[in-house]
Amino acid sequence: MCGIVGYIGDKFVDSLLIAGLERLEYRGYDSAGIATLNKGKLRIRKTTGKIQLLKEKLKNSPLGGELGIAHTRWATNGEPTTENAHPLTGCKKSIAVVHNGIIENHIEIQKELIKEGHIFTTDTDTEVIAHLIEKYIDGNLKTAVQKALKRLKGSYALAIVSEKDPDKIVVAKKENSLIIGIGENENFVASDISAISSLTSNIIFLEDGEIGVIEKSKIEIFNGEGKLLNKKIRKLKWQLRRGPRKDGYEHFMLKEIYEQPRIVKSVLKRRVFKNKRGVHFKNIGITPDKLLKVNRLVIQACGTSWHAGWVGKYFLEKYLRLHTEVDFSSEFRYRNPIAGGDTLVMAISQSGETADTLAGIRLAKSKFVQVLSLCNTLESAIDRESDGTVYLYAGPEIGVASTKAYTAELLALFLFTIYWGRIKECISEEEAKNIIEELGKVPYLMKKILDNQKEIIECAEKYYQCSNFLFLGRGFNYPTALEGALKLKEVSYIHAEGYAAGEMKHGPIALIDDNLPVVCIVPKDSVYEKMLNNIREIKARRGKVVAIATEGDEKIKGYVDHVIFIPKIKEEFSPLLTVIPLQLLAYYIAIKRGCNVDQPRNLAKSVTVE
Ligand code: AGP
Repeated sequence: MCGIVGYIGDKFVDSLLIAGLERLEYRGYDSAGIATLNKGKLRIRKTTGKIQLLKEKLKNSPLGGELGIAHTRWATNGEPTTENAHPLTGCKKSIAVVHNGIIENHIEIQKELIKEGHIFTTDTDTEVIAHLIEKYIDGNLKTAVQKALKRLKGSYALAIVSEKDPDKIVVAKKENSLIIGIGENENFVASDISAISSLTSNIIFLEDGEIGVIEKSKIEIFNGEGKLLNKKIRKLKWQLRRGPRKDGYEHFMLKEIYEQPRIVKSVLKRRVFKNKRGVHFKNIGITPDKLLKVNRLVIQACGTSWHAGWVGKYFLEKYLRLHTEVDFSSEFRYRNPIAGGDTLVMAISQSGETADTLAGIRLAKSKFVQVLSLCNTLESAIDRESDGTVYLYAGPEIGVASTKAYTAELLALFLFTIYWGRIKECISEEEAKNIIEELGKVPYLMKKILDNQKEIIECAEKYYQCSNFLFLGRGFNYPTALEGALKLKEVSYIHAEGYAAGEMKHGPIALIDDNLPVVCIVPKDSVYEKMLNNIREIKARRGKVVAIATEGDEKIKGYVDHVIFIPKIKEEFSPLLTVIPLQLLAYYIAIKRGCNVDQPRNLAKSVTVE
């Protein structure tokens, strides 16, 4: 959700902060703001909407200064107005605060401060922080922040500046990421490595309860009691040298859909043995010995990553006969889950910053359960806090609707199952080779789908004005139905439901009439005939059926209104292909409806609040 960036040094603070915000815009984009201290005087610019608007405002009247903090917001408390945009100040307008997270007891604190004479001007929970610091400050910003933090319940990553104690940025965190970048005679602050990774590779990760005091050539980190800590500086394993580019595509979403064949190819190259008889997962933090002892796997994730977890469950059960559960992180974290000594928790996350997934990891670890994560973002909170990580290597995903990360998650799950199956000796070398050979065809088959989009575009043109869609699938493609519906909802704002096709008769069938497009994922597999039965039921009620079917399946044409063909592949790998037409369908429908596909309303790329 929201993004924070801060800078202290000799560079032009406005442009440095704006560049940082642009890299963080995917985290939230309903409003943005920047505060600097210019010769000790606090200056602020804020706006609703995109960073571009803030940039234009600053062009007309730059702030300048020796240091500054900036924020891009995804509203939690208070509408996305200019007043509610961060940075927020107290009554005297001499303190500025940017905040990621939620202060749960803000109403109570606000009441107390109003009695003391403070005047509140926004609907945010964050404003109480500025007023509290204003109340406590006597010339030392760090001490005032320390006192204020003791009053707060909830989660936060904070960066604060004050006229009363200039020349420094004070930062603090609890359950939200905050990192400090170390430069030469300059230092940086950010909620996300990507904001500053092109500027420095020396990083300090702030831990919960710690407070950092950042000056131009000095950084001090204290614990909650004010004790100076000796923090380790970490060297980043990667650096983003340039900002995200569309490389000629109109949108990041489309570019990322097209990237999928290349990613599958390069991950296979990285993971598969030269003789194709196995795969390697070196240095993932969980040893083969530990994997041997696992008898129960709990996958916890959110959204698209949760859908990937479902495909993983089916695959792991088929090849490893491993008891696998899939849980929403937001449910798992509050359910006091059972932790047997033979359980492994697997978290799946593109961003590596999803608050619920991170909380699920912490909960598992508190019960001494080992956690292995599948994650796309190196050095993210989920990567750092898990016992082990399998990287997805999909490259940064910028479009808010996840596409390439989903197929990279599926691939990682398939390959990891082979690895695990070889350790457990329930997949033979021969079987591993066959699976790998089948996976080897995927890049070419994905490309074939991308090269022939005529039917997909026609369906988009025909149905883009519909208000509802139903997506049905069975077996390995039940999660594909969920993912297809999610994609369409996210980018086009059309109401869509994904369902296990066999469940249709237990309720959703009531929705069917001649206005309802039903997308049926019906490749030639073990549940093909069952899917045909469901399609007949839909047609009997005059529903419009769009089928995702296997090339050469002439029979299906007689049953449905449209067929989008995908190439033939082994049943368990079909989700890698069937999802692509659904991603494209969502994309083209959204474009026809004039939606902002890369930054859909109300969403954010990293969901860092619960
Ligand atoms: C996907 O299109 C969504 N934007 C969303 O559901 C996402 O998958 C979810 O928030 C989980 O994110 P993560 O993979 O970064 O943890």
